[in-house]
Parts: sequence; structure tokens; C-alpha cells
Amino acid sequence: MQNQRTVFVCHGTGCLSSRSGAVYDALKAEAKRLRLDVTIDFTGCHGFCEKGGIVVVEPEGIFYSHVQAEDVPEIVSSHLRDGKPVERLFYIDPATGKAVPYYREINFYKKQQRLILRNCGRINPEKIDHYIDAGGYRSLKKALLEMTPIQVIEEVKKSGLRGRGGAGFPTGRKWEFGYNVCADKKYVICNADEGDPGAFMDRSVLEADPQAAIEGLIIAGYAIGANDGYVYIRAEYPLAVKRVYTAIQQAKERGFLGKNIFGSGFDFEIHMKEGAGAFVCGEETALIASIESLRGMPRPRPPYPAQSGLFGKPTTINNVKTLASVPVVIDRGADWYAGIGSEKSKGTTVIALSGKIINSGLVEVPMGTSLSTIIFDIGGGIPDRRRLKAVQTGGPSGGCIPARFPDTQVDYETLSLMGSIMGSGGMVVMDDTTCMVEVARYFLTFTQAESCGKCVPCRLGTKQMLEILTRITRGKGQEGDIETLYDIARTVKECSLCGLGQTCPNPVLSTLNYFKEEYEAHIKKRVCPADQCRALKRKEKN
Ligand SMILES: Cc1cc2nc3c(=O)[nH]c(=O)nc-3n(C[C@H](O)[C@H](O)[C@H](O)COP(=O)(O)O)c2cc1C
Ligand code: SF4
Ligand code: FES
Repeated sequence: MQNQRTVFVCHGTGCLSSRSGAVYDALKAEAKRLRLDVTIDFTGCHGFCEKGGIVVVEPEGIFYSHVQAEDVPEIVSSHLRDGKPVERLFYIDPATGKAVPYYREINFYKKQQRLILRNCGRINPEKIDHYIDAGGYRSLKKALLEMTPIQVIEEVKKSGLRGRGGAGFPTGRKWEFGYNVCADKKYVICNADEGDPGAFMDRSVLEADPQAAIEGLIIAGYAIGANDGYVYIRAEYPLAVKRVYTAIQQAKERGFLGKNIFGSGFDFEIHMKEGAGAFVCGEETALIASIESLRGMPRPRPPYPAQSGLFGKPTTINNVKTLASVPVVIDRGADWYAGIGSEKSKGTTVIALSGKIINSGLVEVPMGTSLSTIIFDIGGGIPDRRRLKAVQTGGPSGGCIPARFPDTQVDYETLSLMGSIMGSGGMVVMDDTTCMVEVARYFLTFTQAESCGKCVPCRLGTKQMLEILTRITRGKGQEGDIETLYDIARTVKECSLCGLGQTCPNPVLSTLNYFKEEYEAHIKKRVCPADQCRALKRKEKN
């Protein structure tokens, strides 16, 4: 694969929607017509979908963007036959306006450290041999043949790996709980529900490198003593569903799943369950209910899933990115992994960078990387010469951090100190045309609609907050609305049953804390300082 010239066409969801399927077919036909000795293959997402269709020619690493089927004859005759790459399809750096021919020289990628996304855009996700050639299943073999379950757990604990599903719970400790519970049957679950609007990290990993999460899930099963695993995946992600299914079949054929894996005596099977697309089904007790074909609603804890989970048996649940990190930890070692990141947040984080940003896409950086590095060095800054106003991190339950804190480190502790959360890694960049009251209203519209209604504080509190925010943005704010918002937000945070209610006031509280004057302008002066709310007066120009 390395020495022969291979043309990789991106077949992630983003590029396929830019008709990269036609590019692939045309490349195959044209290369055959000219009898060229090249391989045409496909990959999953590179994380830079706005540049799709993306085509990469290896081994030289030429990166073509916005490729359409009509461009194929020129790529084949000029580049593949005559050795002259097609300059007009090179990526153009928005800062310098210069063409950048090589993948490795594109600024968007240069400051990233890709561990979870290590194979994304580099291998064909439907060919297990590609994963194996890239070092895949080496960690499973090591774990099963050279380590006891306790040694695996100790290694993961020492690495400092924490759950990438949002709460950041230490993975090794979670596995230790699972290991210590005695039961005739245990389960491990890969949580691939990913319901945050705008988030596509887990979907991309599963579309581009499904074996990474599967290998992590098998190692998790070995560590806690489970012989059955589930992948709970959103049915709205048909390509990811298909690739995970194919990956499981191929892993079975190669003996990485089934009986007596690597002759170790350990048996493991993986089942898939498709979720119908409710955000709350990402919460672990609701997820378990959904797999059991019950209504997907959270239940009080204890008992925790580690004690009584799926079908009443001890169950350990991990996020896709957490599991995809596990083979790296086992392969490179805990000390190496713990050397990346900040003091208490180790390793890397995958961010879905979107909003008012020049380069939007999937970005993987060491934990602790500053907001300014992500926004300006990797994201290329704010378009149209506008100013950065705030950054919203953590998805719909996250908070807004104002531009005056550009050095904020992106890790669990710092974001929480700033009134936000890591969440699953969403990051929305806002410029000075953004109305912060409208931002709070937008995110609350989502969480209110997704509240399952089981507990009163969340069911009624989200509705009341949304009503107040809506009337403020319509120029009908009243004296006392700010105080009422604070009261309801605190009650919903403290009294709700599950994480949805406990975190959904974050967008309201953080915008109130950092941008209170905007709320006051809406209510007292009937002015929207960002000129966005149509029912209000325009900002007074001075
Ligand atoms: C409303 C809600 C939605 C959630 N959605 C997801 C999700 O889509 N994916 C995920 O991995 N975790 C999600 N979580 C967190 C999970 O409940 C759980 O903590 C996580 O899967 C554990 O894996 P980790 O330890 O690897 O992070 C959600 C939590 C809540 C409260
Ligand atoms: S907090 Fe909201 S989503 Fe969670 S159980 Fe209560 S009503 Fe349902
Ligand atoms: S789908 Fe091609 S870069 Fe994302």
C-alpha cells in the first residue's frame, strides 16, 4: 500500500454529499482506460468536510480539495500519467492566498495531534487489513497474551485516560468498578448515540476507523470480565452503522471476535443496537432502557449501571472516542500517553469546530491547548474581518466563554471553572454580530425539546426559561426576568434527575454571567446590541 501510488477518495458522509462517489467511479474508469498502474481506493472523513470532495494521492501526499467528477480526466492524465499535479485543485490557504499542495503542510492539520483520529482519512475503513497494517489489533494481542485484566486496568488508570462522552470520569477507575463486581454475566457498551447538534466526532471515527472502537471495546470486555458487548448507534448515521457492521463481520472472520481470541481462552461477541435519535438516549440509564426495548428515559442512580445495568447485569459504558483511545494507551504505554495533555486531563480531545470560523471541521489537539491556538492557528481566525466575541464549548449544555479569555485551556477543569464543560467536544465560534440572548434561546430550544419530561424541574423549568428568553428576544422582556432566569436555572441544575437537566441551564447562566448588559439592553432599552433581534431597535450608533 505504501510504495504503489494510491488515490484515496474521501467517502465520509460530508464528501459523499459533495458527490465524491462519482469522483471515485470516474477515477476508476479513467485510470483503467489509460491503463495506469494506480490503485483507486477510498477513506473515511479527514475532518475538513467543507473542502470536499477531498482526494489524496499517496505516497507523495498531494491533497486536492473541492474535486468533482469533471476534474477527474485532468487529474488522471496530468498527475497520474504525466507526473504534473493539478495546481488549480490544491488547497488555498485563506491567510496567504497561496496554494498548498501537500497534506502535511496545511495549517489546519499542522498543529493537530491525531491519536483518536489516527487512521481517519488514512485507511479504507471497510478493509480490516488496512487497520492491521497501521498497527491495529496489536494492543488486543498484547492485552490478551501478555497482561492480566488487572494489569490492563492499572495501565489505563496510570495513563490518566478519562471518558470522552462528556463527564470525564477516569476510565481505569470505571473499569475497576466493573471488574470488582461479581456476576455470572457482565456487559460492555460503546455509546455511539452522539446527539448534540453539530457534533460529528463519534460518527466520523466510526465511519473512518470503526475497528479502533471495536478493538477498544474488546479490551474493555477483557478488563472487566464481560463476554458480550453492544454498540449503541444512532440509526440516523446509516454510513456509520454500515461500516461498524462490516467491521464486526471482518473482525469475526479474522478471529478477533468469537471464541478463544488469540488462543487466550477469552471469548467475546459484539451486538449492534440502533437508537431512534433521542438526545436523552445518550444518557447511560436511558441508553440501557432503549437496548432493552423499553422507553428511553433515565432512571435514578443508584443502582449504577456498574452494579445493575443491561438486563440487570453489571455494565460498563464508554464513549466511542474513549474506546478508540484505549489501543493507543496499551500500545504506546501509560507513561507516554500521560505525557500528553494538561495536569489532570491527559491525552487529546477531538473538537467539532464550527460557527464564525474560517476553517471549520474536526480538530484533535492535546488537552490543555488554548482557545486561541484552536481558533486562530488551526481554525484560521474569524471570517470577514470581524471580531471574536465568544466561544461556546460542550454542545447544547455547554457555556459561552467571552473573547477576553483567549488563553483558556481546553480541558475538563479549566472549562468547568469558566462555567462551561468539555461535553463531547462541540465548539461554536461567535463573532461580534452574535446576540448572546439569542444564543441562549437557541440552545435551550434544543434541550427543552429533548427533555424526556420525566422529572418536573427539567420538564417545566426548561419550558419557563425558554418562554422568558423568547419574549426577551421579541422585545417583550420584563423587569425581574433576569432574576427569574437565575432562579429557574439554579433550580433546574440542582434538582433534575439526569445530566440533561443538570447541565441545560449552562448556556443561560454563562451568557447571563458574561453578557448581562446584553440582557439588560434587550429588557430595559428594547435594543439588541448585536442588531440581530428583529423586534428590537437597532443599536444606537455613536
Ligand atoms: C443527555 C445526555 C446525553 C448524552 N449523550 C452521550 C452521547 O451521545 N455519547 C456518549 O458517549 N455519552 C453521552 N452522554 C454521557 C453518557 O451518559 C456516559 O457518561 C458516557 O457514555 C460514558 O462514557 P465515557 O466514560 O467514556 O465518557 C450523555 C449524557 C447525557 C446526560
Ligand atoms: S432531567 Fe430532563 S431529561 Fe433528565 S430525566 Fe428529568 S426530564 Fe428527563
Ligand atoms: S467527509 Fe470528507 S473530509 Fe469529512
